[in-house]
Amino acid sequence: MAYLTTPIYYVNDRPHIGHVYTTLVADVAARADRLLSGTPGATFLLTGTDEHADKVVTSAAAHGMTAIQWADRNAAEFERAFKAMNLAYDDFIRTTQPRHTSRVTAYITALMKAGSIYKGTYEGWYDANQEEYLTETAAKDANYLSPVNGQPLIRRSETCYFFRLSAYQDRLKQHFDDHPHFIRPEARRNEVLGRLREGLQDVPISRPVTDDPATQFGIRVPGDDAHRIYVWIDALFNYLSVVDTDERRKFWPPRVHFLAKDILWFHAVVWPALLLALQESAPEWSWVKLPGSVYSHAYWVREGRKMSKSLGNFVTIEVLQAYADKYSRDAVRWYLLTQGPLGTTDADFSHAKFVEVYNADLANGLGNCASRVGNMIDKYFGGELPDPRGQADHAGHDWRALQKDLAAQASSALREDDLSGYASAAVALIRAVDGYINQTAPFKLAKRLDTDPGVRDELGLILYHCAEAVRAAAVLMSAIIPEKTGALLGSWGAGGGAGLTLEQLCAWGGPASLRPGQRVGKGEILFMRADPAEAPPA
Ligand code: ME8
Ligand code: MG
Repeated sequence: MAYLTTPIYYVNDRPHIGHVYTTLVADVAARADRLLSGTPGATFLLTGTDEHADKVVTSAAAHGMTAIQWADRNAAEFERAFKAMNLAYDDFIRTTQPRHTSRVTAYITALMKAGSIYKGTYEGWYDANQEEYLTETAAKDANYLSPVNGQPLIRRSETCYFFRLSAYQDRLKQHFDDHPHFIRPEARRNEVLGRLREGLQDVPISRPVTDDPATQFGIRVPGDDAHRIYVWIDALFNYLSVVDTDERRKFWPPRVHFLAKDILWFHAVVWPALLLALQESAPEWSWVKLPGSVYSHAYWVREGRKMSKSLGNFVTIEVLQAYADKYSRDAVRWYLLTQGPLGTTDADFSHAKFVEVYNADLANGLGNCASRVGNMIDKYFGGELPDPRGQADHAGHDWRALQKDLAAQASSALREDDLSGYASAAVALIRAVDGYINQTAPFKLAKRLDTDPGVRDELGLILYHCAEAVRAAAVLMSAIIPEKTGALLGSWGAGGGAGLTLEQLCAWGGPASLRPGQRVGKGEILFMRADPAEAPPA
């Protein structure tokens, strides 16, 4: 079983590249999990929207709508954006749905009964945009300005319910020590460990309900209508509520939560503490184990600057759509996935880079390789795949070993959620085919086809190896660019991988290998070469 999640996104505004990116990362990881295991039904990917935020109410009012009307509209925008990028999630949760709110009430009730949630008074520095209080130290370090958008922090005091987070300091430390991969990447783990050493305080988990309509949107604290559950606590529980049904409980716990650095603390510290508290609250919750991992990537920026409302420089869905219309949506997926901020360094969205990567990996890479090979098989062998007669070794290339090694490399990268290492393995296979073609020069060899009887066998051997390696590369790339690889594999009569693992699928002479005699068509051009001088699509 593999359960993967993305953050649930605020519906105060429309989606942009950042939201699409994290959901794409999760989509690729989920497709890869399915490839790795060969059992599609064992993977479950969840995304969705976080709706009970004060800023949703404020921005709805500014648009002359009720919160839920505005949430309906923007949640639909998120779904549209995700579908436009061919992101295949298994469920889309909206926190205003009763299936979620009723479960959250049950979790909070259990925590209150067990004494992990209690009533008290809170005073502190509040970041209104992030909807979170900062610790005294953090507020001071930030000069009492929001570290996210620079707006002044607000001093606030209120009666509220607290979660006994302080009780989990040692247990969390122990868990992080015992599970070094719990927080990734490593540098982010060290940040969390450092902050944990400063000590944990209990955190407020409710907000007061007043006459202000903005305070009336949210799940009420069970048994106390004057308080609603703080949006972040409500939101974190989405990961549990969606699979807390008889059919889906088997997916728990999540293999990995994908998110960005902005919300790591909630996921790495508050969330596991809530789960530990729930797990211990009563025997009926003992199944609520901790997630395997929290993977926190960095940010997309534009022209080296943070994207923000005030700068108005978001890479919008319209921009991504224009790229997809011109270069294909697989091209957009490939660029975002291979050039995105998977590690701790922010990534710049740049047209020049897009074209460079598109040409190198897709147009001149997979696409050109596939069409050269398909065309030669068509021309010299009437479109019928020649027979390598069991010979995997030729001209210093051991294709059986290479396909095996690169599939193993891809698999182990995937087990670490190293999606760029995974993409590199596929690219390496294509580069190997290119090098082999340049070295063996089949088009030159073909000129001697009629005069030299030995040439036919050698040419056939070369083209078989090329086609078979391109097939394996396409299988490897299929989690990232499923449509183009699907078209290629389909036109070559390859596929039929049901029940096979990634390593079996990629094996030379394996159950999914191309069979001599089968038709390998010329196929369509997968990716047209892009002209670097051309202006970005509008
Ligand atoms: O924080 N680059 O929602 P949110 C990369 N509702 N990823 C980015 C990005 C960027 N520039 N900007 C946003 C919330 N993201 C809460 C989450 S989860 C229980 C509740 C992505 O709409 C990234 O995944 O502000 C980031 O963590 C998330 O959007 C924040 O989305
Ligand atoms: Mg945010």
